[in-house]
Amino acid sequence: MPLHRLTRITMGVPDVRSTAAYYGDFGLTRVTATGGTPDVERFSTVDGGEQLAITHAPRRRLLDLGVGVDDSDDLDRVARAMARLEVETVRSATAVEAVDPGTHIRVRVEIAPRVESRPTPAPAYNAPGVIARENARADAVTRGTRVRPRKLGHVVLGSADQEATQRFFTEGVGFKVSDTVKDLAAFMRCSTDHHNLLVQRAPVTFLHHTSWQVDDVDEVGRGAAEMLEADPERHVWGLGRHAIGSNFFWYLKDPAGNFSEYYADIDCIVDDALWTPGVWEGARSLYQWGPPPPPSFLAPEDLAGLMTGSHSS
Ligand SMILES: [Fe+2]
Repeated sequence: MPLHRLTRITMGVPDVRSTAAYYGDFGLTRVTATGGTPDVERFSTVDGGEQLAITHAPRRRLLDLGVGVDDSDDLDRVARAMARLEVETVRSATAVEAVDPGTHIRVRVEIAPRVESRPTPAPAYNAPGVIARENARADAVTRGTRVRPRKLGHVVLGSADQEATQRFFTEGVGFKVSDTVKDLAAFMRCSTDHHNLLVQRAPVTFLHHTSWQVDDVDEVGRGAAEMLEADPERHVWGLGRHAIGSNFFWYLKDPAGNFSEYYADIDCIVDDALWTPGVWEGARSLYQWGPPPPPSFLAPEDLAGLMTGSHSS
């Protein structure tokens, strides 16, 4: 597909300093600011480069989202598609920008290098009848390095106008729908990953979570354990495995109230013709196994406050 990745996002939060400290703990690498007190904190991932900016906003929200394409022909196509949707665009030599009418998030489709991930073989797992690791302890119990997310995998948004947002991203930007949850949400991709964006119906537009890829399920566990050792209040939901996308997950909460997820082993769709989107409902639309999701995962505790804020703004 002409789209190939998420590039970067900007998150607006009331307190940049504490939120930035959280994402440093999470394993993102702070990109050094030059001089003074930065009003924007920037972070990179191992494979994705600079992918997160955190800046001030009165209420937590996603301010913008970047999507990578290969060349200017792709930008032309997006500009034409937006024109058909009667969405205004701003075009430069390297990007097309437009605002999603559903969430009011600014989306920047930009020419960007593809994510090149160093191949990471699955660890050797012993199983009944298969000894893959002879005379050796599991690699996971001897790992001593910090967990470092490889890339930003997906972003999940609540939209007060889910249909408009889905149309914007599919018909305008060019995302493909991988799976849907009946009357609630669409999982969409702009790469070979099962989803890079999930938009769900909500009473108010808000950022539900960002999700960051790590090597394997042990890295999901190690990363979360380290975050919880520093502050148990960060726990939201995990460890579990989703059915939609198949990925292992563990969700934590940043000081502004955004959830952040470590994930591993997500489904990859390399041939669109060989993937059949499903329509999901009930508990399996949330997970395959794991502890039951807390009510605050479905409806974050600050949602009422965000609604009040959005009505008064
Ligand atoms: Fe997720």
